Amino acid sequence: MDHLGGQLSRLCEVVGTDDTTPVELLAGVLGKHGSRPLSQPPAWASDVADDHSPVEFSIAWNESEPPALRILAEALGPVPSVSANMAATYDFLRANGVSTSRLDAVRDLFDVAAPEGDFAIWLSLVFRNGRRPEFKVYFNPEVLGRGESGALAGEAFERLGLGTAYQKMVDRAVRPGELGGLDRLSFFALDLHDAPHARVKLYVSHHDATAADVARAAGVVDGVDPAEVADFCRLAGGEKPKKIKKGDKGEKKGKKRGKTYTGRPLISSFTLTGASDEPAGYSVYVPIRSYVGDDREARRRVVPLLDRYRFDPDFLDRGIAAVTRRPLDSGVGLLAHVSLRLGPPRPGMTVYLSSEAYRVDPPRPLPISVI
Ligand code: TRP
Repeated sequence: MDHLGGQLSRLCEVVGTDDTTPVELLAGVLGKHGSRPLSQPPAWASDVADDHSPVEFSIAWNESEPPALRILAEALGPVPSVSANMAATYDFLRANGVSTSRLDAVRDLFDVAAPEGDFAIWLSLVFRNGRRPEFKVYFNPEVLGRGESGALAGEAFERLGLGTAYQKMVDRAVRPGELGGLDRLSFFALDLHDAPHARVKLYVSHHDATAADVARAAGVVDGVDPAEVADFCRLAGGEKPKKIKKGDKGEKKGKKRGKTYTGRPLISSFTLTGASDEPAGYSVYVPIRSYVGDDREARRRVVPLLDRYRFDPDFLDRGIAAVTRRPLDSGVGLLAHVSLRLGPPRPGMTVYLSSEAYRVDPPRPLPISVI
């Protein structure tokens, strides 16, 4: 907690938020493990971060207000297990008076006797300048196994009155025959408040995919430009963006499909609000740490992307300084993901920062994962 709490306080200062509530909430998420010395191995091999820290920070830029600070976290039970961590999550939400009405409509689906995978539920906490914290949960659609993920997510969407939208997303965003194969449903996420703009999100991880595959998935959402999404992936992934000629749809199948991302998968997420039959927003997440040699290279790619969208990169540098003092070229993975968010309610970019509480991954001589 000293390590993470210090990082969090400094990050709060960067985005201009008082740190009292965030630090209290972080302590609540970690439970009794908050006082465990970092010299001991992690109490639970959380997949939230590569080094098994149960926490990951992110800075989310948007067009209308200063960046938000977010924490992705796995609440840990006293004796951690997938089920104990789920119970700890619900205890945490109850203790903090968070509205769970929509969550209550689906929670039994994910509360299974013998969960597969390494989590059933994660949390995110969002701190926006001057507002009360917002909470989100992420369920694991593969908790009954990969083969069941489509049926499980389908049932969850159905219960929320979003069955039609779900079917459209899956039919068009997943490569044919690849549901649970190369295209995996990684998260089913819910905003935990009752306002009309509360969102439901579905995340699809595209393994061994190209930027063109991801662009195709983005095309599911009206008003989202697939070529913009492909460009973002290519710039973040270290490819050269394709020149798009006039009259060219840009992302047609052809010989020049670009590189295959064989390291960590590119991820799509689709946002639904209200009871619409169409997703309203799309985000792409590039696991930049798999495609760079070190964090200096990652930063060098992210800064021009922030500039491109007219977001202030100074927040990134101050955010980095808030979590680490090591030279950026002495490791890789501090900048874990970079994402682009398109469509309502808040278009923007997000950079995910690892706490590196337990480990710093050494730089790689060459980024070998893009072939
Ligand atoms: N560590 C996991 C991964 O990299 C989960 C995760 C953490 C994640 N932060 C994320 C996934 C941000 C997508 C976006 O996949």
